[in-house]
Amino acid sequence: SNPSLLILAGDGIGPEVMAQVQRIIGWFGDKRGLKFDVSEDLVGGAAYDKHGVPLHDDTMARAQEVDAVLLGAVGGPKYDELDFSVKPERGLLRLRKEMDLFANLRPAQCFDALADFSSLKTELVSGLDIMIVRELTSGVYFGEPRGIFEEGNERVGINTQRYTESEIERGARAAFDLAMKRDKRLCSMEKANVMESGILWREVVNEVAKDYPEVEVSHMYADNGAMQLVRAPKQFDVIYTDNLFGDILSDCAAMLTGSLGMLPSASLGAPMDNGRPKALYEPVHGSAPDIAGEGKANPCACVLSFAMALRYSFNEGGEADRLEAAVEKVLADGVRTGDLMQADGGTPVSTSEMGDALLA
Ligand code: NAI
Ligand code: MG
Repeated sequence: SNPSLLILAGDGIGPEVMAQVQRIIGWFGDKRGLKFDVSEDLVGGAAYDKHGVPLHDDTMARAQEVDAVLLGAVGGPKYDELDFSVKPERGLLRLRKEMDLFANLRPAQCFDALADFSSLKTELVSGLDIMIVRELTSGVYFGEPRGIFEEGNERVGINTQRYTESEIERGARAAFDLAMKRDKRLCSMEKANVMESGILWREVVNEVAKDYPEVEVSHMYADNGAMQLVRAPKQFDVIYTDNLFGDILSDCAAMLTGSLGMLPSASLGAPMDNGRPKALYEPVHGSAPDIAGEGKANPCACVLSFAMALRYSFNEGGEADRLEAAVEKVLADGVRTGDLMQADGGTPVSTSEMGDALLA
């Protein structure tokens, strides 16, 4: 049977960019004989409007069964006043939590035609291709004790950085597996100089490294890592880091490459019975209410998220290369949505025209 894909387009520009991915999926079926069993469902505000919850139980169950989930974006001003328990974001958080997606993959890849958009000099980012793997389900965002407590005559806010060996290890294995498919270099970032969890992190990464003798491993304090990312980002291939440092470092790395409209991501969990990891692919951007409904959104982030699905869920690295090459070519040809225009640039194309160009 064909590999299965659940599409959750969501809100705002989510359905607009996803429509272009649907066309591309159709193209792979027609022209490359690569067929998927695609099902579609609601998430976020769209699910709330229909079911009163941002993710229906049936959708959650389906997400657990399929080979990969591809999500557009959730949220929008219409839902800002909703109770926290039914906010659109909760739909996404529920997916991540129940699928136990512990490894968040954030590539920072610079398309040469967009090197001008980087916050760095062109020569520092031209050809840049790094992958940050952020541990997503543990660390200081989740550790107990947490809360605001009375202490003497004042309050104290407490969060706890807590990592078990197995949490560090499973993320490390995901990162090393990726390194094996890439340039076989992995840099682990923590603060072992001042944090116990950092000392353990470093030890566990070194243990896991023994199973990957081909991968060249290095360690860096995360603050130095931040400096190196903006000083000489091309020194990195895969970076493996914890939830908090990964949150910050991946946003920092994103700006090395330019527009939010170009950034894909993946979140992976444990392997299923068929050997494929549980997986959710989504653009980094949100629902962009300021341009939603106007046909202006850049579909590339969502298209590149599907390319990641091809590579990491469906073992179709060659087809992923093909799709990424299409993005590269279209940009080199000067086809640009509004977010990719410089002040003096020509006329922007629409979302569907960008889709046309990619298909062509
Ligand atoms: P946003 O990413 O939606 O938009 C930020 C800016 O980037 C806007 O000016 C937008 O027009 C532009 N932009 C984003 N994606 C673009 C694309 N593909 N093409 C062209 N321009 C693009 O972030 P914002 O405005 O902070 O949040 C808007 C809504 O999205 C909120 O409800 C927020 O909660 C939600 N959100 C959802 C996320 C998700 O579904 N994973 C992630 C971030 C925000
Ligand atoms: Mg962040």
